[in-house]
Amino acid sequence: MLSGFYSSLAVCAAAILPAVLADCDRAELLAFADSYVEAHETGSVSNLQNIADNFTYVENNKTREITGGIFFNAFVIDHRHTIADTVACATFTELIITHNISDEPTPHVIGTQIRHNPEDMSVYLIDLIVSGPGSWLFNASQTLYYASREDWGEIEEGARDSRELLKQAADAYLDMWNNASAIDAVPWGTPCDRLEGSVYTGQGLPTDSCKVGIPTNNNQAPNTYRRYVIDESYGAISVLCIFEHLAHAPDSHEFRLEGGKVRYIHTITLADSSNGLPPPARRGGPSARRRSLSA
Ligand SMILES: *[C@@H]1O[C@H](CO)[C@@H](O)[C@H](O)[C@H]1NC(C)=O
Ligand SMILES: *[C@@H]1O[C@H](CO)[C@@H](O)[C@H](O)[C@H]1NC(C)=O
Ligand SMILES: *[C@@H]1O[C@H](CO)[C@@H](O)[C@H](O)[C@H]1NC(C)=O
Ligand SMILES: *[C@@H]1O[C@H](CO)[C@@H](O)[C@H](O)[C@H]1NC(C)=O
Ligand SMILES: *[C@@H]1O[C@H](CO)[C@@H](O)[C@H](O)[C@H]1NC(C)=O
Repeated sequence: MLSGFYSSLAVCAAAILPAVLADCDRAELLAFADSYVEAHETGSVSNLQNIADNFTYVENNKTREITGGIFFNAFVIDHRHTIADTVACATFTELIITHNISDEPTPHVIGTQIRHNPEDMSVYLIDLIVSGPGSWLFNASQTLYYASREDWGEIEEGARDSRELLKQAADAYLDMWNNASAIDAVPWGTPCDRLEGSVYTGQGLPTDSCKVGIPTNNNQAPNTYRRYVIDESYGAISVLCIFEHLAHAPDSHEFRLEGGKVRYIHTITLADSSNGLPPPARRGGPSARRRSLSA
């Protein structure tokens, strides 16, 4: 009796909520991400289709007109990486740019989340973190060099980590600033490499660790206003947030997990790394510079 009741309830719910239950189409998500990248290549947003009535454009956590933002310039895209979240109906794209089409230096590293309305796929939010000269450890050529050496390829179906695990890993990492137990909740991989702005924590060795430069003071202001895009097929999760402990810097962290462990981390942070925040490391040399990154 009971099971009959529940199964007719399930049929009923499925009939009422088809749009909510269905995942968004990956190909459609990626097609819009392509047109977004094309807008950067042409320096014009006129190709962007199916924009929602309530569309919002956010650049470095500030709402503005899309035509007044970074799209005034026509870039050559040196590196592009996109993931798609069919549950949240969103994409994340990482772009590394050194020049524009006139071959003028226009160095930028950009992290972008795009959100669609699942009912009609219309785009209601384009949310960018745009770094440039003066941003945290910024050097686009060097970021390009390190990012190009990494393999963020698709993960075989049977070997994928769950959405929940990816989110738990990213949240634990971003909790380290204000939670002393969070460090042990991060599923650290070995090797693990973090590309923090343009600075690489590893040396391409099997022993590379992402624990280099992690916070030792866990009583700092938290990383808040987190927005997620999760793609299990690439073991990847993007989180845009605010680093409250770093002068409220707009920030992008993307994590790649393999076999349940963190393999790569990429960061884009809109903070000035030359202003003494956080305090410089005591020891000299390149590794000391790395150690001071996010502590
Ligand atoms: C390339 O960048 C330079 C410097 O920002 C700018 O003056 C020029 O208009 C740009 N060219 C294009 C085609 O966007
Ligand atoms: C715009 O519409 C989408 C889809 O209905 C909704 O999720 C989103 O919160 C809305 N955004 C704003 C700023 O109202
Ligand atoms: C960026 O890094 C490259 C490679 O490490 C270096 O040659 C270049 O001088 C750096 N550029 C700036 C502006 O620091
Ligand atoms: C601190 O992190 C641990 C491990 O992730 C978690 O279980 C705990 O709830 C967190 N504490 C607070 C106050 O957020
Ligand atoms: C970031 O944007 C959110 C949403 O508009 C706002 O509530 C928050 O105050 C902003 N934070 C900073 C540091 O600008």
